[in-house]
Amino acid sequence: MNQATTAPATEQPLVRAAMPAKAADRFIRNTWYVAMWSADLEPGKMVARTLLNEPIVFFRKEDGGIAAMTDRCSHRFAPLSMGKLMAGDRVQCIYHGLEFGADGKCVKNPHGNCTIPAAAHLKAYTVVERHTLLWIWMGDKTPDPSKIPDYSCLDDRPDLHITRPGYLSVKANYELVVDNLLDLSHTSYVHAGILGNADTVEADIKVEQTGDVVAVSRPSKNADTPGILKMMSPPGFERGDQWSTISWYAPCYMILEFGVSKPGEPKEKGTGYFALHLLTPETERTTHYHYSAARWNVLTEGDEKNSAIRDKIFEMRTFAFAEQDVPVIEAQQRLMDQSRTPLSPVLLAIDAGPTRYRRVLDRLLSEDARPQ
Ligand code: FES
Ligand SMILES: [Fe+2]
Repeated sequence: MNQATTAPATEQPLVRAAMPAKAADRFIRNTWYVAMWSADLEPGKMVARTLLNEPIVFFRKEDGGIAAMTDRCSHRFAPLSMGKLMAGDRVQCIYHGLEFGADGKCVKNPHGNCTIPAAAHLKAYTVVERHTLLWIWMGDKTPDPSKIPDYSCLDDRPDLHITRPGYLSVKANYELVVDNLLDLSHTSYVHAGILGNADTVEADIKVEQTGDVVAVSRPSKNADTPGILKMMSPPGFERGDQWSTISWYAPCYMILEFGVSKPGEPKEKGTGYFALHLLTPETERTTHYHYSAARWNVLTEGDEKNSAIRDKIFEMRTFAFAEQDVPVIEAQQRLMDQSRTPLSPVLLAIDAGPTRYRRVLDRLLSEDARPQ
């Protein structure tokens, strides 16, 4: 007769051991990341977001500040974001009712003798609201709000000239998205007609580094004006001198200055916009992509016209990213993952910008890993 070999249920561990640690990711932890647009966090609501592989729940406190803590109850790992936001900035877990304060401390255990085990507390994060965005500090070192990248062009001009907050979820590593944005040459191919054209293919690329900031420029003279610039210019800008400079701020922030002036005229007489790109790694294979644009030296007149131009800029850029860039980037990621052997890219002259920022990023990654 067969003996039963299964251990009695009482001998089974209550909770399985944690999964083995994953291979190291390439995320700088001691820096600021965009968690979301401010407008995405409504009072009285909780928002869950995974950032750098960590599940986090956000809510607005009664004093207007922002709370952020691990979105995984310490008891049986239910998401707190499925629970209830209560008076006094408390979150009640949906599963068995543990309650947590905005600082992540467990403040109520409704069971047994109601004692609160020290291990019940959750990690809380510092969040700063600035430039209409929520910035979170994920590392163990002391957060320094003066290091938040300068996106003040979202604050210092009328809403009429700022496009609404854009967001895309990209199924690729954030470095592939930075590569794409710092490589201005792809606009002539991927975005032909909208952001670039045949006239801009041969423009010279200049790469400059100031401290840890890498800037890639690609000016062109007396060239056919790309559609998006033509759309926001008065008559007479059908051809022009264009400037296109994208600056990278570690680890994944970019500001592109893009504009056109009449042939031979100085930049100050031209018009254009700052294109703002803010990336946050969600996992090694997914990225939160926030974007907006702020017009510079507006030359078109009338609120109705400028409001229509603002919305058109948003539509054209969203089309360029969502329908043109993202499919290519996600396909790159899939092909790289499929390869059975390590891949080493062939380098072209146009890769100077991405190569330079990678060098800075590699150094910052090794500095970040050192203890404070
Ligand atoms: S899982 Fe949260 S209280 Fe049990
Ligand atoms: Fe692009």
